[in-house]
Amino acid sequence: MTLPATLPPSQPSATGHVPALSPQTLPDSSELVLRVMPLPADVNANGDIFGGWIMAQVDLAGAVLPSRIAKGRIATVAVNQFIFKQPVSLGDLLSFYARVTRIGNTSISVHVEVYAERNPANLHVVKVTEADLTYVAIDGNGQPRPVPR
Ligand SMILES: CC(C)(COP(=O)(O)OP(=O)(O)OC[C@H]1O[C@@H](n2cnc3c(N)ncnc32)[C@H](O)[C@@H]1OP(=O)(O)O)[C@@H](O)C(=O)NCCC(=O)NCCS
Repeated sequence: MTLPATLPPSQPSATGHVPALSPQTLPDSSELVLRVMPLPADVNANGDIFGGWIMAQVDLAGAVLPSRIAKGRIATVAVNQFIFKQPVSLGDLLSFYARVTRIGNTSISVHVEVYAERNPANLHVVKVTEADLTYVAIDGNGQPRPVPR
């Protein structure tokens, strides 16, 4: 399922609860693993959010499902692909969705998609980043260990 470029503004309920992105707009078979808003300290010289900050958040978000599957320590072994599709702006609320794409002997690969919610008065949702990363289950000595089955 593809996210539409724009969504109708979220309407607060009688209790004041404002719904987030409605479930039918989320990427298929992906799980929300992180939601975060960048701070002014994360801005680069252009006034957009620094790409290195986004990469760090994607690494953290990508580790959530592999950690659960590996049931212990993991390490990032590779960023296999990383695409900055759109700049991230101050005030954007970023949502990170992940799905496992491969479970190997000691490694777990994930695909992460990042969506920015911007302009709350007229909510607009934009896919800003997507990436593929691989994590390795490691033992107490930092050596690869088999992923538990
Ligand atoms: C992660 C680490 C323990 C792996 O050790 P290693 O001796 O290189 O392990 P291997 O070559 O046996 O590879 C382990 C797994 O990673 C996979 N892998 C290695 N390089 C890869 C790459 N570029 N892309 C995708 N998978 C890769 C291998 O295919 C293997 O998977 P499998 O067992 O499921 O088939 C070691 O490389 C390491 O400590 N790296 C530094 C990790 C780190 O500091 N990360 C940043 C902070 S978390």
